[in-house]
Amino acid sequence: MQEYKITKSEYNSFKEFIYGHAGINLGDAKQSLVTSRLGKRLRHHSFTNFEEYFNFVESPVNSDEQQIAIDLLTTNETYFFREPKHFVFLEKEFLPKWNGKKCLRIWSAASSSGEEAYSIAMLLDDMLGDRSWEVFGSDISSRVLKKAQQGLYLLQRIDGIPKEYLREYCLKGTGQHEGYLLVDRELRSKVGFSQVNLTTPLGNVGEFEIIFLRNVLIYFDMRTKKHIIKQLVEKLRPGGYLFVGHSESLKGIHDGLESVVPAIYRKVS
Ligand SMILES: C[S@@+](CC[C@H](N)C(=O)[O-])C[C@H]1O[C@@H](n2cnc3c(N)ncnc32)[C@H](O)[C@@H]1O
Repeated sequence: MQEYKITKSEYNSFKEFIYGHAGINLGDAKQSLVTSRLGKRLRHHSFTNFEEYFNFVESPVNSDEQQIAIDLLTTNETYFFREPKHFVFLEKEFLPKWNGKKCLRIWSAASSSGEEAYSIAMLLDDMLGDRSWEVFGSDISSRVLKKAQQGLYLLQRIDGIPKEYLREYCLKGTGQHEGYLLVDRELRSKVGFSQVNLTTPLGNVGEFEIIFLRNVLIYFDMRTKKHIIKQLVEKLRPGGYLFVGHSESLKGIHDGLESVVPAIYRKVS
């Protein structure tokens, strides 16, 4: 199999490409990541170097390849009930006080393959009974969104799901789905997924009581973080909550938010 080397200027071209399209700041030391993730596309198209591939990707007639390159350059690691403190906050603090007069809307704003959105949905279904709710999941990567919409996950990846939720909301795959778990159809019907690039105008997504924006801010520089937070806060109802990853902080980023506990912020009403 052919191995490719990336030159400094080729690396800089892809660094600018992913910054321009997704706001992702690769820094100066991700050459091996770019080489290993995009190398398969050079092989696929029989290009001999990264410059040829870059010219191909940049051409407006190759927008499909542009999406493939964006998919490959994003990091999509996620799992069910990741960072459980947010789910404990929902269960113990937020949901018991929810008056249920309107539809509770929660956004998983960098949902990756959907594990976060379905974790929220399981908890809401369990706690809210007949009261109205919906979960919206979005991501820039079309590849992970397809997976999210399917709701089909490898059995090795479901450790975080509580046993009673496994029984209630998940089906064990058989036949061609042996070794997989399928999220129950009814639960899936209350979770919608769409492609949203957080760096571009967000469009008409409506207002939310809670936005999960976890483990994605780490990829952005300060300017992009400020822009994204400003846009998302506009989509929060007054008094609504923004959850970020526990290794992320909004210190100095937005004064329309107050810190509640680590990694949970509230929109000042
Ligand atoms: C590490 S995953 C986090 C998934 C989930 N929130 C969690 O905490 O487990 C980061 C996700 O952010 C997405 N992402 C990166 N840049 C984005 C952008 N500009 N707009 C929307 N999503 C983006 C990636 O495609 C990836 O799926």
